[in-house]
Amino acid sequence: MRISNQLIALFGLTTLAILPCRAVTQSEKPMMKAVVIHEYGGPEVLKLEDLPRPEPKENEVLVRVIASGVNPADPLIVSGKYAKEFGTHLPLIPGYDVAGIIEKRGAKITKLKVGDSVYSYVLWGGGWAEYAVMTEGEAAIKPASLDYIQAAAVPLTALTAWQALIDAAKLTAGQTVLIHGGSGGVGSMAIQIAKARGAKVIATASTPNQDLLKQLGADVAIDYTKTKFEDFAKDVDVVLDPIGRDTLARSYALVKKGGFIATLVSRLDQTELDKYGIRGESIASKPDAIELAEITKLIEAKKIKPIVTQVLPLTEAMKALQQAETHHTRGKIVLKVADEPLK
Ligand SMILES: NC(=O)c1ccc[n+]([C@@H]2O[C@H](COP(=O)([O-])OP(=O)(O)OC[C@H]3O[C@@H](n4cnc5c(N)ncnc54)[C@H](OP(=O)(O)O)[C@@H]3O)[C@@H](O)[C@H]2O)c1
Repeated sequence: MRISNQLIALFGLTTLAILPCRAVTQSEKPMMKAVVIHEYGGPEVLKLEDLPRPEPKENEVLVRVIASGVNPADPLIVSGKYAKEFGTHLPLIPGYDVAGIIEKRGAKITKLKVGDSVYSYVLWGGGWAEYAVMTEGEAAIKPASLDYIQAAAVPLTALTAWQALIDAAKLTAGQTVLIHGGSGGVGSMAIQIAKARGAKVIATASTPNQDLLKQLGADVAIDYTKTKFEDFAKDVDVVLDPIGRDTLARSYALVKKGGFIATLVSRLDQTELDKYGIRGESIASKPDAIELAEITKLIEAKKIKPIVTQVLPLTEAMKALQQAETHHTRGKIVLKVADEPLK
């Protein structure tokens, strides 16, 4: 699903909150622990409750969740700011990244089996719970080289970076890409995907994250708090913008004619694109099990490694949400839902 500029203009979005949420339905036992919200608001509206386990539909699998990733989309959805546009209903369980084990499968599931370890970007959320349901189009086999905590840090951010750089911008070997926010969830994946593609990477972050940019493989690391990125990035082929505002406004002029800007958080200014003879797209990422399997290959080939900087129990979801809304997370925060199973 790509969101058009018109749609963004219509909703006046400054941050693309494209993610709907799974509504909680009351049904019979068995039960599970889940983080749920009954009203929109800040982190204080999160409640840890006993709820009925979801039952997979014929095209879904039921996954016993071991870990679930945290994204800036979570506080946005919890706030209810775009509830009308995205058709979210209360009560709801946040959480779009899941890593766990398939417990049950619907009649129409053909590839995945009970007992498979999977990871997934779940479009309708529901990951901050002991059990979650997802379709076969959302879940891929978990990389064997990652534990569940690491795996839960991957799907949404890696797919967003992939869909921006590979699908939209068609980044190729030898090209130069400017990646803003390179130390964040999406940026850290984008740097590694771009390097795996054979591109030259210029990346920005604040002072404490310069080491991380280098560790991830950035050829040029820019401290945006001390220097202007324009002084280091000129005539780039592609810009990835997860920041918006002034950062996006200043980036058009740095792209060479025929180049591409992919923004995750804003609508693009067609006048600016035309002025520099460049193209662009406002990205709305989506689950894609086939692309996630491609990302798995890069992980197994040691080309991509998730950066997990904080692991919290489900009981501390509120703290995770507070961190996610700072927009200054280094790598990823992951909620540990259950112990890693014994090998
Ligand atoms: N459209 C979509 O489909 C889609 C998908 C995923 C994410 N998003 C959006 O994309 C944004 C980024 O997501 P994320 O998961 O990467 O967030 P994140 O994990 O919070 O990371 C944000 C990163 O941006 C850096 N940063 C903050 N201000 C900056 C600036 N002025 N210049 C350069 N870097 C800056 C921060 O590093 P420092 O602390 O060093 O500043 C931080 O590491 C969020 O707004 C999210 O909602 C959109």
